[in-house]
Amino acid sequence: MDSFLIKGGVPLHGTVEISGAKNAVLPIMAATLLTSEPCVIRGVPNLSDVKFMGQILTWLGAQVNIEGDTVQVRAKKIKGQGDYDLVRKMRGSICIMGPLLGRLRKARVSLPGGCVIGARPINLHLKGFEALGAKITIQSGYVEAEAKRLTGGTPFLGGRAGSTVLGTANVMMAATLADGVTVIESAACEPEIVDLADFLNAMGAKIQGAGSPTVTITGVKELHGAEHHVIPDRIEAATFAIAAAMTNGEVTIKRARADHMHAVIDKLQEAGVIVERKGADMIVRRGSRLKSSDVTTLPYSGYPTDAQAQMMALMTLAPGISIITERIFESRFMHVSELTRLGADIQIEGPSAIVKGGRPLSGAPVMASDLRASAALVLAGLAAKGTTQVNRIYHLDRGYEQMDAKLRKLGARIQRVDES
Ligand code: EPZ
Repeated sequence: MDSFLIKGGVPLHGTVEISGAKNAVLPIMAATLLTSEPCVIRGVPNLSDVKFMGQILTWLGAQVNIEGDTVQVRAKKIKGQGDYDLVRKMRGSICIMGPLLGRLRKARVSLPGGCVIGARPINLHLKGFEALGAKITIQSGYVEAEAKRLTGGTPFLGGRAGSTVLGTANVMMAATLADGVTVIESAACEPEIVDLADFLNAMGAKIQGAGSPTVTITGVKELHGAEHHVIPDRIEAATFAIAAAMTNGEVTIKRARADHMHAVIDKLQEAGVIVERKGADMIVRRGSRLKSSDVTTLPYSGYPTDAQAQMMALMTLAPGISIITERIFESRFMHVSELTRLGADIQIEGPSAIVKGGRPLSGAPVMASDLRASAALVLAGLAAKGTTQVNRIYHLDRGYEQMDAKLRKLGARIQRVDES
């Protein structure tokens, strides 16, 4: 198993190019199942999750070709059942259900398990499918949705933590081929949903209102092939912005969509970080001093849960008390115990972590857990005095393309070591 070995204390300087958004690519790859014609997706990051989704589509019968940052998919003939093991291993693959239901009127996938950050239920996905006329059966670890006729409906997809991103994606995709009009109320507003809707409309779908809480989909008979360039990854951009601030460097982030990052930029500026925009680029550096700042994660356009751990790492360096409250997932504080091993002072009180910041961090061996917690540990290692070893970085490879190479280009002393 690979680890990162990081010698901290080096201010990062230079330019980093943001890769395509993982959370846009996965549903867009699934959407290619909605047509028998070829689709081309460009600007795709080289991630293990993307390769995995390719394996799932291949298993379903599609022809998949991944070359550099381009994925070609032709789902000429497909079967309606996802491989139990493949689907179970990557929760994001639940988004094949909507396209299978739309194209074949039947979808059968393994029930996605929970993960370190929470139970990850799919009740809202299933509620949306039922609103389109599907019958849901759950047995022996599989969930099946079947519909003689798929007809437009008006599902409300708001749950205890706001809307559901992949639930909105799933229902939107199924509804493109339903008879009649579907109106999704309390739809997720994330930029990745807008990107998916843009791809679906390029395929001939009729979707309006994506990015707002009310999305209207007028069903069509069939969809055709399309080409699409994926939006940049706003969470990767946030991660590198925080890296610049934590190491007291200055980094130009190319291809960052600042319009997708208002909440992150606002928080960084409140914490004393200088964020300048130059066209499509963002220049980030620490101001005179870091200030403690409270963060609460919310559905878009609130502060993103996927950048919560990274902001907590920054707050460990800001003198004073910062309260970080996680409102989207039940247990997304796996990084807290590991950050305290690096010398941070953090107490968890229910949904909040109380960070007493300002003490310098010192390097130590730490364990990666979920994708974003791992990113926070790398950031802390970059700022810590001495050497930090981040173990199990396969978590990082799921969602960050060549993170170590990009950081080395900015001057970081980080090496990937094979621990096996
Ligand atoms: C997507 O997950 C992202 N993953 C997650 O990113 C992201 O954290 C999350 O959205 C929230 O923004 C992908 O896009 C592949 P949700 P998703 O359904 O869609 C509850 C990362 O690090 N809920 O929006 O699975 C759920 O328990 C990953 O890149 C229900 O109650 O998340 C959670 O509390 C991690 N019932 C909340 O809603 C449901 O049917 C938000 O979940 C569905 C969800």
